[in-house]
Amino acid sequence: VGLFDALPAPFGGRIGALWRAHVVNPALRRYGAADTEALLGGRPAHSAAQDVIAQLLPEHPPLATLHEEFDEVDRELGERARAWPAVFPESYRMEREGRRLLYLLVRLTRPRQVVETGVANGMSTVVLLHALAKNGIGRLRSLDVTDAAGGLLSDDERAGWELGVVHPTDRSGLDRALAGVDAVDLFLHDSKHSYEWQRLEYSTAARLMPHGGLLVSDDVDASYAWIEFTEQRGLASNVLFDGRKFVGAAVLPALR
Ligand SMILES: C[S@@+](CC[C@H](N)C(=O)[O-])C[C@H]1O[C@@H](n2cnc3c(N)ncnc32)[C@H](O)[C@@H]1O
Repeated sequence: VGLFDALPAPFGGRIGALWRAHVVNPALRRYGAADTEALLGGRPAHSAAQDVIAQLLPEHPPLATLHEEFDEVDRELGERARAWPAVFPESYRMEREGRRLLYLLVRLTRPRQVVETGVANGMSTVVLLHALAKNGIGRLRSLDVTDAAGGLLSDDERAGWELGVVHPTDRSGLDRALAGVDAVDLFLHDSKHSYEWQRLEYSTAARLMPHGGLLVSDDVDASYAWIEFTEQRGLASNVLFDGRKFVGAAVLPALR
């Protein structure tokens, strides 16, 4: 008999159980990290980007050349990062396999408009910009709370890049920063990993991709937002374990 069962209604008994299931537990889920089993939902956690690609884009062409391209970009980025006094903690970065996933997705799907939230030193940003440059088409709009973000970018990379500075908790500021960006093909969330903010950004991403697109999110284990969002919209959730945390990726269908 648990603590709740010993209490009078509405805390204990059958009504109490319903109350806990439908009121207390959903409320508590807003503040905690996601349970790994719930995140995986019986599916395997991939540890290689190419296994996520196989799920998202089953008809994809051979990846060997794209892996080589990424390895070169990432090797050079690693050298740059080692030689540079980081402004943001290095632990903020997307890990290597997550970065590889971004590179492969951009090269394979050739997005015209990419949005990224959360730049920090710019590890994911540099990778996205290189993949777009190699495609010869496509723009990246990134958001962060300070224009000190993106210190790793070279002058050349900065030239074709748009950085929007937002207030960390201003929900309408997110819309304003993305005004004029209405046909997004790939949206990467890597900003504030609270439940509320992740839900807000995932919904914003879906609204900006009415013709369909790809939603990628770092730190999907930080809250229940990814699990709820993908379940409620009937999306297949693909999860990559990058050695430290989980990256989620899902195809958003076109809205009719
Ligand atoms: C995890 S780091 C991003 C790491 C980056 N993607 C990389 O791979 O190097 C999170 C960043 O989000 C920024 N941030 C925090 N709240 C934000 C918000 N509401 N909107 C946009 N960026 C935010 C922080 O300033 C920080 O630079």
